[in-house]
Amino acid sequence: MRIRVLGSSAGGGFPQWNCNCPNCDGLRRGSISAQARTQSSIAITVGGTDWLLVNASPDVLTQIRATPELQPARAQRDSGIAAVLLMDAQIDHVTGLLMLRERQSPLPLLATPEVLGDLTEGFPITRILSHYCGVTPTPLRLDGEFMPVPGLPGMAIRPVLLSSKPPPYSPFRNCPRPGDNMGLLIDNPATGQRVFYAPGLGEMTPELLALMAGCSVVLVDGTFWTEDEMQRLGLSKKSAADMGHLPQSGAQGMVAQLDTLPAAIRKILIHINNTNPILREDSPERALLSAHGIEVAFDGMDIVF
Ligand code: MLT
Ligand code: MN
Ligand code: ZN
Repeated sequence: MRIRVLGSSAGGGFPQWNCNCPNCDGLRRGSISAQARTQSSIAITVGGTDWLLVNASPDVLTQIRATPELQPARAQRDSGIAAVLLMDAQIDHVTGLLMLRERQSPLPLLATPEVLGDLTEGFPITRILSHYCGVTPTPLRLDGEFMPVPGLPGMAIRPVLLSSKPPPYSPFRNCPRPGDNMGLLIDNPATGQRVFYAPGLGEMTPELLALMAGCSVVLVDGTFWTEDEMQRLGLSKKSAADMGHLPQSGAQGMVAQLDTLPAAIRKILIHINNTNPILREDSPERALLSAHGIEVAFDGMDIVF
C-alpha cells in the first residue's frame, strides 16, 4: 500500500495568501530555505489505480494536477479518486468537495455522523452538492473495529476518536463531541503493517500512545512548534490548544510524546502551519526533530507500507 502526501500544510497553506510572517515573507522573497506546501490532504492506494482521498483540501485541483496517478484515464470522464474520507469538518479539509462536483456519479463520502451533520447544517456542502454530483454519505464505524472501504478492496481502516474541536462555524464549537475530529488507522492486511494518521491531535493519551506503538508509521499533527506561536507573532489571539493542536515543543509536547515510541517506528509531522519554524530546513527546530528521528512531511512525499 502507498500513501501520497498531497498537501502537508495546515489551513492557509504555505505561503498563506495574506501572510507576511517571517516564513511566508521569506519564502516569497527566496531568502529562506523552505518549500511551498498546499493544504492538508493525503491519498491512499492499494494497487496504484484507485485511491481513497483523505480530506478534500481547497487546493485539491492543484494537488490532482501534481499527481498524474490520480487520473487513470479509463473513460472520457474518470478519476482515480474512488471515495473521500474526512477527518473533521474544518474548512481546510472539506472545501475541495465543491471542486469535485463534475463527477459523473455520487461521491462516496466517509465521515463520522458529527462531521456529516456539520456538512449538512453549519456548512451545508452535501446539500449544495446534491444539485451537482451528489454524495453517498457513509457514516464510519466507531466501534473500534476495522472496516473495508467501499470500492477499494485490500484496504482496512479504523477511525480513532480524538479530543479536539469542531470548526469555528460549527454550532458545537464550544461543546465538542466525540466524533468532531478523528485519527485514522490504516491497515495493510497483506503485510500486517499499520499507519496512524492524525493531522489534528489536541491531546495525547496513554491509549493513543499504545495504539501508535503498534504502527510502523505515524503521521501526526505538526501544526505549531509552540503553544503561543500565533499570539507571539501577533497573528491571532488563539493558542494551539484553543485550536485543538498539540505543539511540538514543551515537556508534554509532540516531540516528547513521540520519543516514548519505539525507535523503529517512522515518525512524520504533517499539517504544518506556515508560522512553524520547522518549515525552515536549516532551523535549529528542524535539526532538533532530525536528532529525535522525526521527519517533516512535504507535498509529493510517498509512504509505502
Ligand atoms: C486548523 O486545523 O486549525 C485549521 O487549519 C484551521 C483552518 O482551516 O482555518
Ligand atoms: Mn486544519
Ligand atoms: Zn505566514
